Amino acid sequence: MNQELLIRLFRAIEGDSNDDIVKIANKVIEDQSRLGHSKLAGKLQEILNKNIHSYSTFRGELKSLLPKGVTIPTDKRYNIPLATHIERDKLRHEMVLPEGIESKIKLIEREYVARERLKSFGLKPKQKILLYGSPGNGKSMTAERIAYNIGLPFLKVRFEAIISSYLGESASNLKKLFESIRSVPCVLLLDEFDFIAKARSKGQDVGEMHRIVNILLNLLEDYSAPGILVATTNFEGIIDFALFRRFDEIIEMPKPSKVEITRLLEQSLSSIRKHDVNLSSAATKLKGFSSALVVKVAQDAAKMAVIGGKKEMKQEHLLSAIKENTVFNKRK
Ligand SMILES: Nc1ncnc2c1ncn2[C@@H]1O[C@H](COP(=O)(O)OP(=O)(O)O)[C@@H](O)[C@H]1O
Ligand SMILES: [Mg+2]
Repeated sequence: MNQELLIRLFRAIEGDSNDDIVKIANKVIEDQSRLGHSKLAGKLQEILNKNIHSYSTFRGELKSLLPKGVTIPTDKRYNIPLATHIERDKLRHEMVLPEGIESKIKLIEREYVARERLKSFGLKPKQKILLYGSPGNGKSMTAERIAYNIGLPFLKVRFEAIISSYLGESASNLKKLFESIRSVPCVLLLDEFDFIAKARSKGQDVGEMHRIVNILLNLLEDYSAPGILVATTNFEGIIDFALFRRFDEIIEMPKPSKVEITRLLEQSLSSIRKHDVNLSSAATKLKGFSSALVVKVAQDAAKMAVIGGKKEMKQEHLLSAIKENTVFNKRK
């Protein structure tokens, strides 16, 4: 075979050393060397080594996302996965938070990273976190950000799949899921986990739902997996003593104050050119808006500027975006 062609072919080889394609490639190198083409053989070996290396690094990264051999259990009847795995590059993580909240969350991350060191002193990192507060202020995002920052796989529980209309199966679904992650380091998000309590009104058997709530509470209590569990709820009312003692940390995610609103606007508008824009004065008008709504206002204003063919965003764009979105704020 033409040398140049052989080199091009080798560049396309991917795999690890046990894969057939790599074994064949090694044979080709041997043959070339036997034929006295030692320079070519050396070059091919170099290309192959590099490709095998980058492949295993790539595989290693994937492994850190969801360990090999871990499968998410599915619901027995419809075969729906009981949790969704969200890949690292899809995780939202650029947050704007008040200093006090930011440092609490950073501490959770730092304790996890230092877990071995803590262990040698008989100490444990915070692992069970409850986030509560009104919608759109970063509860779900915080769970994603923790996974992103620590580099743990992220799993979101699918309550709609857990709650089965078949008696007894919801409970076994829950147990199955917790069992499957017993030794898997990951962030497990129980998002809006009051869903379980609410499902009661949707024709579920009251006794059965009561049982599920209790099972969840027990699973929370017994959770000792090597990861972090984050539960979120929009309802402050749900936090009673039974829940309180099952979490290592309970954090309220507040609406952004003027400082955070300004930073959210800055962050969301960082890639757009601005002319005579006063973010601080816009922030005053956004008082009471959720973080999600502030981000939406910023995006709407930027879109207005772009669609209108303007190269720069102006204060008027921001002001009309605020006006248009006020209706969403009042709805809550
Ligand atoms: N603290 C925050 N910093 C930056 N963006 C935020 C923050 N809180 C909410 N957002 C924006 O709002 C969206 C919804 O946030 P989310 O975490 O889903 O809210 P919830 O508290 O309802 O779970 C996010 O995708 C993000 O764009
Ligand atoms: Mg949420």
